Amino acid sequence: MAKRLISIDDFIARIRSFEQGIITRDGVLDFCDSVQVSDSSLEPYVFFDQKFYTRNMIYRDDLFEVMTICWQPGQKTAVHTHNGQLCWMIPQRGNLGVVDYKWLGCDHPENQNVVGIDCLAGSDHTKLEVVREIEACAGGTVLTADKLQTIHRLYNFDEPAVSIHIYSRPIDSCVAFDMEKQHCYRRQLAYFSKLGIVEPKPEPAPAHVSNLVTIAAR
Ligand SMILES: [Fe+2]
Repeated sequence: MAKRLISIDDFIARIRSFEQGIITRDGVLDFCDSVQVSDSSLEPYVFFDQKFYTRNMIYRDDLFEVMTICWQPGQKTAVHTHNGQLCWMIPQRGNLGVVDYKWLGCDHPENQNVVGIDCLAGSDHTKLEVVREIEACAGGTVLTADKLQTIHRLYNFDEPAVSIHIYSRPIDSCVAFDMEKQHCYRRQLAYFSKLGIVEPKPEPAPAHVSNLVTIAAR
């Protein structure tokens, strides 16, 4: 079935309508699969950076967060969790790769006994196994992460790419994995832009403060 072309404003209005009932992965997925967001309406939220992929907030309330992620060739996320979120990804431009992982164990599983987030993290012996690797192409299938499949990595191997991400509920941190060291850690999430305006870059710590941190860490 042909997808219906709509603006990002209309898209968000429809997403917000899900807040009237119980939000399910498949309910939002059916809607996302049925529409194509117009490039022109999305343009104010498209920013590329040479160093990192950019997270550009378009809408956020207590239940939903909608953003674009803009990817230069070769840019990728860390392997990460979603803290029990439901996530939908619409490939808008270009092609992305997605690798899904399964958690096999670690030396601090008790750190998962925490309220509000999925894990305190901090293990140095995390074992993950690749479940599958798929490609997401513009105009193609909408991909999801959910409570059963929560660990993945996204990467752009091709031309500059743009994807639309819907998250419920919004989160400000996740667990990320250093695959070489088998280490996991809590990672703060930040926006490159909000509502079309680039965020100021965080100030680097003054030299005397970073010296103190270095000394304290020894
Ligand atoms: Fe993700």
